[in-house]
Amino acid sequence: MWINIDKMSDRPLMRQLYEQIKDLILDGQLAPAEKLPSTRQLAADLGISRSTVLEAYNQLIAEGYLIGNHGSGTVVASGIAVFSSLPETAVKKRGATATAAEAPATTVIDFQSGVIDASQFPRSEWKKACQRSLDQLSEAAFRYHPSAGVLSLRQTIADYLRRARGLACSPDQIMIVSGSTQGLALIAALFQDQQQAVLIEDPTHPGLRQIIERAKLNLIGIPVDDQGLITDLLAPHPAPAFIYTTPSHQYPLGGILPIQRRQKLIQYAITNDTYLLEDDYDSEFRFEGQPISSLYELNPDRVIYLGTFSKILTPAIRLGYLILPDQLIAPYLELKKYSDVHTEALTQYALAEFIESGGLEKHIWKMKKIYAKKRQHLIAELSRCYPDAFEIKGHAAGLHMVVHFNGVVFDAPLINCINSRQVRVYPINNYVFGNPAPYNSDILLGYAHLTFAGITTGITRLCTALRQAES
Ligand SMILES: Cc1ncc(COP(=O)(O)O)c(C=O)c1O
Repeated sequence: MWINIDKMSDRPLMRQLYEQIKDLILDGQLAPAEKLPSTRQLAADLGISRSTVLEAYNQLIAEGYLIGNHGSGTVVASGIAVFSSLPETAVKKRGATATAAEAPATTVIDFQSGVIDASQFPRSEWKKACQRSLDQLSEAAFRYHPSAGVLSLRQTIADYLRRARGLACSPDQIMIVSGSTQGLALIAALFQDQQQAVLIEDPTHPGLRQIIERAKLNLIGIPVDDQGLITDLLAPHPAPAFIYTTPSHQYPLGGILPIQRRQKLIQYAITNDTYLLEDDYDSEFRFEGQPISSLYELNPDRVIYLGTFSKILTPAIRLGYLILPDQLIAPYLELKKYSDVHTEALTQYALAEFIESGGLEKHIWKMKKIYAKKRQHLIAELSRCYPDAFEIKGHAAGLHMVVHFNGVVFDAPLINCINSRQVRVYPINNYVFGNPAPYNSDILLGYAHLTFAGITTGITRLCTALRQAES
């Protein structure tokens, strides 16, 4: 393999290796079923550590590019279209310690998903960033702003995405919104006149689904499996306004959309002249490697990327962003102007300052470790209370997990029984809307906001309720 590692570059070695192998596969230079060198051999050839090679291989396995076979080595996966079959733009590179103490018996332990650990908010760094940005602001900063948002924040986000996500886009394409919620609402409104259908993963986030429904667009649910949206089921639908998807970490089931399905989605969007709305709500928190590559990078003309600071920092600042294909920028800006002129600007300046000073990446790094420990603790508590009778679904990422309990049916009487024990869990069937709901034995458990003691108490109460229902 022709791989060039630049040890003087500020790009991590793992990222360099991962990207070059990925490019070799997408260029067709590495063919399906072709065997890759062993991690030991490649590490020795390149003069890098074996763990770096292993990390790159594991990332590519997680994204569907490679298949790891125990004993017989790592090979290139089949079914990946080479780049030459995609449009030109597709090739374009735009550059806590666990303590098992019990929580008080009266406290309700709520395993709600997507709630951050607010006790860790970096108050003093944020305060300094607010102070610094306020000190530097000119008078113009206190007047109306362009509808796209504060330029320094848009530039900072473009740099951050390049560094942290390997995603290249121009600040001109970045539109600041009041959270992904507003971003999605604006995109839905942009297509409202056309009265078209929107294809959406099923199960999905009920709140986000409502936003699209309120825009009077006709929703069609596309079933999901453990790898995310089942792209083979897209064919029979009429051309939609857009397709809503969470490819890096399907919400709620946790699958990662493999490259073969990503390419099918892009091809579908091209053939049907539609857009893919990529909701990338928590990909920074991946506990088994780097964040998954974006769908956006496969075709910036067809993908609308939706990012948010709600999970990586706090939802209280209500800041998120859209990355728009060039042709949508003008109609979007008009819509945003006549909805709220622009998103609140002073917090945008503070956030730009916070990111530039390195505060955001430091915080993400810290939270990743804390959330990984909480996740491990939750799994350990399940093993203690309900040994061998449960299965974790989805990838180790984000602020929640889906657990399958063998033989258990989370129907209304069982949920009432669980509620009566001061614990709240969320049946996956509640997230299904258009298709049969086959997830009787699966619940969603959000753990990020809970203390270690809270997790212990919650799981103990849940398992007691399950045992009570069994007897
Ligand atoms: C799938 C998904 N997307 C996006 C968001 C973030 O929304 P916002 O940025 O409006 O806070 C959430 C929040 O829970 C979510 O679950």
